[in-house]
Amino acid sequence: MIISIVLLSIIILRVTPTSGNVLWEFPESFKFGVSTAAYQIEGAWNISDKGENIWDRLTHTRPSVIWDESNADKTCDSYHNYERDVEMLVELGVDFYRFSISWSRLLPTGFSNQISKQGLAYYDDLIDELIHFNITPLVTLYHWDLPQTLQDLGGWTNPLIVKYFEDYARVVFENYGDQVKNWITINEIPQICVDGYAKGINAPQVSANGIGDYLCAHHALLAHAKVWHLYNDEYRHSQGGRVGIVIYTEWVEPESTSKEDIEIAERGMQFLIGWQAHAIFSSEGDYPKVLKDAVLNRSLDQGYASSRLPTFTEKEIDYVKGSSDFLGLNYYNSIMLWNTKNKFVELKFIVPSREDDLGYDSYFNENWTKTISPDFTVFADGLKYVLKWVKKEYNNIEVIITENGYPSYPGLGDLERINYINQHLIAVWDAMINNDCNVTGYSVWSLMDNFEWISGYGICFGLYEVDFKSEARIRTARASALVYEEIIRSRTIKPNYFRNVSQVESKTSTLIILLNMEYI
Ligand code: BGC
Repeated sequence: MIISIVLLSIIILRVTPTSGNVLWEFPESFKFGVSTAAYQIEGAWNISDKGENIWDRLTHTRPSVIWDESNADKTCDSYHNYERDVEMLVELGVDFYRFSISWSRLLPTGFSNQISKQGLAYYDDLIDELIHFNITPLVTLYHWDLPQTLQDLGGWTNPLIVKYFEDYARVVFENYGDQVKNWITINEIPQICVDGYAKGINAPQVSANGIGDYLCAHHALLAHAKVWHLYNDEYRHSQGGRVGIVIYTEWVEPESTSKEDIEIAERGMQFLIGWQAHAIFSSEGDYPKVLKDAVLNRSLDQGYASSRLPTFTEKEIDYVKGSSDFLGLNYYNSIMLWNTKNKFVELKFIVPSREDDLGYDSYFNENWTKTISPDFTVFADGLKYVLKWVKKEYNNIEVIITENGYPSYPGLGDLERINYINQHLIAVWDAMINNDCNVTGYSVWSLMDNFEWISGYGICFGLYEVDFKSEARIRTARASALVYEEIIRSRTIKPNYFRNVSQVESKTSTLIILLNMEYI
């Protein structure tokens, strides 16, 4: 056993970029969590009176668009396994659990005319279980699974979605607001709107580049603000909670330190994060000027009568401005923008499109560590730069890192994920401690492997592995779960995570796998 401990120390030392006795210690007030989303984990797609959502429709009618032609009809079956899920949260020792409510499970028609008793009971039971174990629920209202009935009416491109979303939120606040005090309205506008309404990748697979994306995002921002005001006006006083939004971002790393390249990267940040965040978090509100000017000019050049970017009225600018109690940030990787000057190449974009409006193509720096997925590389410092940028741009608003995670193949010995989490937590620590960024929490994506949208089950993000072949969808802790547990317990990133024999003995099965890995 002593040999095991020594070997394990070596492994952990190798994956943790520390020197000497340096420790990265987080304050007690800093909260750790894990995240999931309803469609990706619940399954039970047609149990009781649940309505169909846009991902049910896509996976059932066009299975070939999913890499492995799978769907989430059963996925992790958390609908039936939620007690095991909470048990895992207890094992990890998390402070909070971020999950989402399935709109069509709660409101089978999509409208508030019909509220599902079983749907209500499911989330009631889950929330009760979390509270029982002293785990704070952080609940997302919308994580991409729009009721199909609403999509049939145009989905997020229909202005009435703002009202439908408010009606849904009211049912949620009425029923769960006594127990849930931390809400998120919408998860990731670009993935909903660009992948769903412009590029035709995600459900509902609308292809309307440079138009559908802007229109969808415009309504999503108004819907978010509507729900924040609903809570603020009618529930905040009695329920005492708060409401934020989750924004997806990458860090746009300048190609060089030249003034021109720094300006190009800044333009990229405004197109990416500013597009979602400026209207809510900046002191002037509205879309960033650089975005408004670019889309207007390109639209007029292209013969449109007006900008493809919708316009907020003065009243709406005021209504959206300040409509969030915190900023949830999802960060996975960084990008660079290709400055073609002096490169003798001409970029060809789809016209119209956001890329064309931006005017630059994006790529990954070849020095950033690759992963099994072409969509993800590792550049942890990018998270620190994003946090510093947010602090400067949005008056040091409170930030919770609501997602950060690493894609891998199946297997319990996930040293790369451990390394990824360590590096990103160190970046967060650096932003907080050395740069006074107002970060209050961090959440790993994801608690367990799940249905990874169009990638199906081919890519794993879980701290826990799920055996999708087993009827019971058995979950097993990966090495990263053990390390994350130790980080949360000690609130410290440090070289040697397993310091006493009893701890090591209780984790024997995963340890054996760790020790048999090619790394040693
Ligand atoms: C989404 C998750 C997704 C994860 C990994 C995030 O953008 O919110 O639903 O599984 O990325 O791709």
